[in-house]
Amino acid sequence: MAILLERAVALIMILSMVPLSYSSVYKVGESSGWTTIGNVDYKLWSATKTFHVGDTVVFEYNAQFHNVMRITHAMYKACNSSAPLATYTTGNDSIIITTHGHHFFFCGVPGHCQAGQKVDINVLRTSSVAPTPSPSVLPAAQVPRPSPNDAASLNAWKGVFFEVELIIMVVFASFLANVS
Ligand SMILES: *[C@@H]1O[C@H](CO)[C@@H](O)[C@H](O)[C@H]1NC(C)=O
Ligand SMILES: *[C@@H]1O[C@H](CO)[C@@H](O)[C@H](O)[C@H]1NC(C)=O
Repeated sequence: MAILLERAVALIMILSMVPLSYSSVYKVGESSGWTTIGNVDYKLWSATKTFHVGDTVVFEYNAQFHNVMRITHAMYKACNSSAPLATYTTGNDSIIITTHGHHFFFCGVPGHCQAGQKVDINVLRTSSVAPTPSPSVLPAAQVPRPSPNDAASLNAWKGVFFEVELIIMVVFASFLANVS
């Protein structure tokens, strides 16, 4: 009985740790970092990731030679650094992604964007794990978007099942504790 109880408690502990590991940290370019050296394919790098709201992207670089600018799509395409939305210069910049959609960055040093030092962090709407606001919050005229709501309700149901599972485990554990 004691062994069963231990197992039940261990399972509860494991289950309760799962939802805490939602946000991730991504180092842009992995070990190469943020650079013009070695023709790092930042497009390929970001294509292999599934970014979520709340994730952090880290730009690590030599601040003497590079910087990080957040820019619009038009600026990104044209490598136009004349009016960045934000500029980072520490050489180790952690940027938390707080919204869905595209987040465009390049190095503002002349020639570096043209050389490929640019990255598009795209957070897909359906990849959200956070519960979306209830439909009543949305403007009445808004066209229904099927897939994100389905994903949200699926996540909500997962949450419910998780809670139910936890309750069952707790009841089971206290039952075992009473028996032994
Ligand atoms: C760069 O962007 C600025 C501000 O949006 C604009 O005024 C300028 O014409 C652009 N330059 C080029 C070369 O596209
Ligand atoms: C950058 O900052 C992170 C923590 O935010 C740290 O772990 C890492 O070692 C730093 N890198 C450099 C090159 O300073």
